[in-house]
Amino acid sequence: MTITAAQVDALPDRSVVPAVWSRYTDLVVDRGEGSWLVTVDGDRYLDYSSGIGVTNTGHAHPRVVAAIQGQAAKLLHGQQNIVYHEPGLRLHERLRHVLPGDGWAAFLSNSGAEAVEAAVKLARVATGRPAVVAFRGGFHGRTAQTMALSSSRTSVRGNFEPLPGSIYHAPYPACYRAPDGPHDPDQCTCDWEGQLDGLFAQLVDPARVAAFIVEPVLGEGGYVVPPVSFLPRLREIADRHGILLVADEIQTGFGRTGRLFAVEHSGTRPDIVTVAKGIASGLPLSGIIAREDLLRHFTPGIHGGTYGGNVVSCAAANATLDVIEDEGLVANAAARGTQLIEGLRALKGRHPRLGDVRGLGCMVALEFVRPVPGDGRMPDAKMAQAVLAAALERRLIMLSAGSWGQVVRIIPPLVTTEAEVAQAIGIVEEAMTAAAA
Ligand SMILES: Cc1ncc(COP(=O)(O)O)c(C=O)c1O
Repeated sequence: MTITAAQVDALPDRSVVPAVWSRYTDLVVDRGEGSWLVTVDGDRYLDYSSGIGVTNTGHAHPRVVAAIQGQAAKLLHGQQNIVYHEPGLRLHERLRHVLPGDGWAAFLSNSGAEAVEAAVKLARVATGRPAVVAFRGGFHGRTAQTMALSSSRTSVRGNFEPLPGSIYHAPYPACYRAPDGPHDPDQCTCDWEGQLDGLFAQLVDPARVAAFIVEPVLGEGGYVVPPVSFLPRLREIADRHGILLVADEIQTGFGRTGRLFAVEHSGTRPDIVTVAKGIASGLPLSGIIAREDLLRHFTPGIHGGTYGGNVVSCAAANATLDVIEDEGLVANAAARGTQLIEGLRALKGRHPRLGDVRGLGCMVALEFVRPVPGDGRMPDAKMAQAVLAAALERRLIMLSAGSWGQVVRIIPPLVTTEAEVAQAIGIVEEAMTAAAA
């Protein structure tokens, strides 16, 4: 049922929502349908933000909605410490089989940050070691521990020190921003390994490190796709020192990169994988999928939470996994992602401020630069903002990213069509022209 004009007039002013939610749009939405958001005024917007990489099955997929409605009518909350429930049992079992290989088990929580907290707690309790090494440009959440792990932007962590200690940051191979010049990740010359070695020599003994935590593709840090050799090499280094490898797949998981999980692109087997966002099509659900022998270190009562594995969220997740499988969304993500990246790369010659177009599957970035003397890679947040605004005027929603805010990231739902991608490419081209004028 569409909201009425009288109801729209009676809505409280937007200022009731605190300004801490930095805003991309002032839209008040009524509903979502597949790749589209519809405002209370009936205007339709192509939503290539997917609610920050969440609505992989599109908005309000009928099968997910039916599962939620059916479950909500039966039981809203069946607390994990008190009872078992069918959607939860089924989901725990299913999550044992979503990653390559055997021997996985899942623990469920609510938000991405909570999943990362669980991963760090598990790594520490399983290894008996205190330190964690994260990667520069990474983002892992907004709680104290996850802020300490994050380094995507100063604003994420800068106002909240002191932060939990024993966290160290190693460089991520960001080939476009390499000090010796941008290069193709296939011919990577980034010195991440040498610098990690230096970190072990100068700051923390690797024998004291419980885990590496790494995004297979940097998310908030600017959709940076590392060379395919990065994760396998990190795995080797982890094995050499008895360090666990935690892949933060909160943004990259559930088909987003054209594989069910991004670690599959390099055939790397992590020890713990954090999941959230795309798992339940918009209902709050997250978790870790960990080696079963590791998860046994979570003995009764040492971790938990009131809402973890909520029954309605689990029903939504089971339906989401069905839709991803039955509708071939992983293959569609790969095909639509290639269409989008190729279409946007073709625009590069006509738009000198578009420094880089990159991505993996439906995780696509445009990096804007200012044409200044030197190597021409001065980050241009103003241009990125202008492109976002011009695209919004043309009813395309995208987001920003990158440590300087210089990146426009494009996150289509995995149900998006060839025609919608073509429409989006056309709008981006118009928006870049308008923004540069
Ligand atoms: C890679 C990654 N890890 C963790 C998080 C935190 O998730 P949440 O916002 O659900 O706490 C995010 C959120 O954007 C993310 O992209």
